[in-house]
Amino acid sequence: MFDQVCLSRGGNRIFDGLSLELRERRIGLVGDNGSGKSTLLRLANGLLSPEHGEVIVNGHRTTRAGREPHADVGFVFQNPDHQIIFPTVGEEVAFGLIESGRTAAQARQAASDLMADHGCAEWIDHAIHDLSEGQKQLVCILAILATEPKIVLLDEPFSSLDLPTRLSLSARLARLPQQIVMASHDLDLLNDFDRVIWLEKGEVRADGTPSQVLPEYRAHAAARGALMLESGAA
Ligand SMILES: Nc1ncnc2c1ncn2[C@@H]1O[C@H](COP(=O)(O)OP(=O)(O)OP(=O)(O)O)[C@@H](O)[C@H]1O
Ligand SMILES: [Mg+2]
Repeated sequence: MFDQVCLSRGGNRIFDGLSLELRERRIGLVGDNGSGKSTLLRLANGLLSPEHGEVIVNGHRTTRAGREPHADVGFVFQNPDHQIIFPTVGEEVAFGLIESGRTAAQARQAASDLMADHGCAEWIDHAIHDLSEGQKQLVCILAILATEPKIVLLDEPFSSLDLPTRLSLSARLARLPQQIVMASHDLDLLNDFDRVIWLEKGEVRADGTPSQVLPEYRAHAAARGALMLESGAA
């Protein structure tokens, strides 16, 4: 829950009294570049703290700077390079499992099983930075799903994935019991969600079901695109 959240970064006010109750199982975030989607997700994970107001996740405040990211919350970064810690794929996917108490051998086995489920078991000993962008993105998603967090925050998780991986992964995500909050520029991924929030300049421009919000945002995007083209900005 976001209660009157204010946050500035680099001298810019990003949120100025944002209040949101996020209870639905599937929540999509849409909005133009710079509208605040990633910042909202980082606040929800405790990676950022509000200057004023409160962010409460699973009954816990995440407000004090320097706190550990919330243990119940898995966060898939927009940029895989910001998430990746380890040199090899297997270590990256196994890390969260070791943190949650499995032995190294158990964690490697579980990582290997999960990767086999997603058709990428052979990457286990690959250097992660030698993977393509889409392959890295898949590894980052698997590393988070491996730990079975109560809430999964996904920031543009599919932007580099090929179509088969995108389809299989989104079908898998749809079956997960956890709450998912996902920022996406691919609006079709949000069609079956319970709720879509459209952010504009750090404020909620629209909030409702996908069938209410997505056509409105599509129309706005088309109009804005046409305007940018006219003014020579695109
Ligand atoms: N570290 C930072 N320092 C200064 N300003 C920042 C920082 N991070 C984000 N911002 C600003 O905050 C605003 C919101 O950024 P944010 O990354 O949340 O947008 P977004 O909706 O995720 O955009 P995109 O669709 O491009 O991913 C932008 O104006 C951005 O310039
Ligand atoms: Mg973003």
